[in-house]
Amino acid sequence: MTDASKTPEDLYAEAVEDVRRLAQKAARGTPPKVRLSRHTARLLEGVSATPAPPRAAAVCGPPDGLERIADEVRGCTACPLHATRHHTVPGEGNPNADLVFVGEAPGADEDARGRPFVGRAGQLLTDIIEKGMKMRREDVFICNVLKCRPPDNRTPNPEEVACCEPFLIRQLDLLRPKVICALGGTAAQTLLKTAATVGSLRGVWHTYHGIPLRVTYHPAYLLRSPGEKAKAWLDIQEVMKRLGTAPPPAS
Ligand code: URA
Repeated sequence: MTDASKTPEDLYAEAVEDVRRLAQKAARGTPPKVRLSRHTARLLEGVSATPAPPRAAAVCGPPDGLERIADEVRGCTACPLHATRHHTVPGEGNPNADLVFVGEAPGADEDARGRPFVGRAGQLLTDIIEKGMKMRREDVFICNVLKCRPPDNRTPNPEEVACCEPFLIRQLDLLRPKVICALGGTAAQTLLKTAATVGSLRGVWHTYHGIPLRVTYHPAYLLRSPGEKAKAWLDIQEVMKRLGTAPPPAS
């Protein structure tokens, strides 16, 4: 019977049989030399000549994205903070933001709502963005070094930072904003890999993976030390100049 007179079912059955015999011989250690039907040979030729399809989607899953990172954060149990959290707080804002604020860790309000900077310190940050910088909060991106609340709002310990920092690194790598503003010591020290204080780090430009970074006081600190607000405002004005959003100096 010629291939032309065979039904697709015949050809399929023949190909399966050929491959079964090949597999059997290979399993016995016999060099797998078998006579293939012309149809199977043509199929195999086609297989070897066809370029392999792109594998990324099947092998690596969907491409990395902020939503995927947020999903991973929601499922994270890497450090003991997962046991006491009510919600994870991955971060929020415009994925194309020119400006990213990085804080320390969620507090009680953030833990209750799953959103960053929504308590008293958050209100001050929102005022800085909206009233001071004349931007909309939803146009920037806001996140923290830790994505879960440390009990009693204590300072994150190095193990917690080490567990959580990969999420922040991936977020910033995707966002690649024009400017990062580190709010307070934990954010500044984590991003800049230093033990220096905010007081000594503010006032100059730093670089995080090629992105200009400015350090300023944490809004919670400004609530406790309102006398430092003027310095924080100077820092924010430098950020605005860098973004090209500062009003021109009065002539
Ligand atoms: N303090 C932070 O550092 N981050 C928040 O989200 C809230 C308060």
